[in-house]
Amino acid sequence: MKKLILIFLSLTVLTLTSSNAAIYKGQRVFVKKCLKCHDAGQNFVSKYKMRTWKKLMKKKGKKLAALHLKKRKAKKSWKYFRSKKYSKKTKHLKQFLVEYARDSGNVPACN
Ligand code: HEC
Repeated sequence: MKKLILIFLSLTVLTLTSSNAAIYKGQRVFVKKCLKCHDAGQNFVSKYKMRTWKKLMKKKGKKLAALHLKKRKAKKSWKYFRSKKYSKKTKHLKQFLVEYARDSGNVPACN
């Protein structure tokens, strides 16, 4: 019995830390790729609700990419949004964006 509890506990810890890692990775993508144009940073993320971010980030961020590819003003981001680098990391980015959406109740630590 004790063994089972231990296994259960370590699994919980594992899943918790891995989702934190994903959010952290997503934050790094955001800081590196999005902040140069959306410099409001955290305020920018919390401008939108979780649902909005989820929609934008569905299917490997297809909508978010399309939105930028339509805007001449966002031309500098086109290469990135078309790249594999973007589609490979959208999962993390999504987790980060949803985590800090307006209705998530979370505020990121500054580290
Ligand atoms: C080269 C600059 C650039 C980069 C890089 C960029 N964006 Fe944008 N983004 C824009 C522009 C320009 C618009 C259109 C704003 C408008 O129509 O006034 C926009 C629009 C948006 C919108 C729609 C809401 C709005 O404010 O109009 C969202 C959401 C968004 N960007 C998120 C992101 C995310 C997340 C990233 C990082 C993966 C990112 N952007 C990277 C320039 C950029």
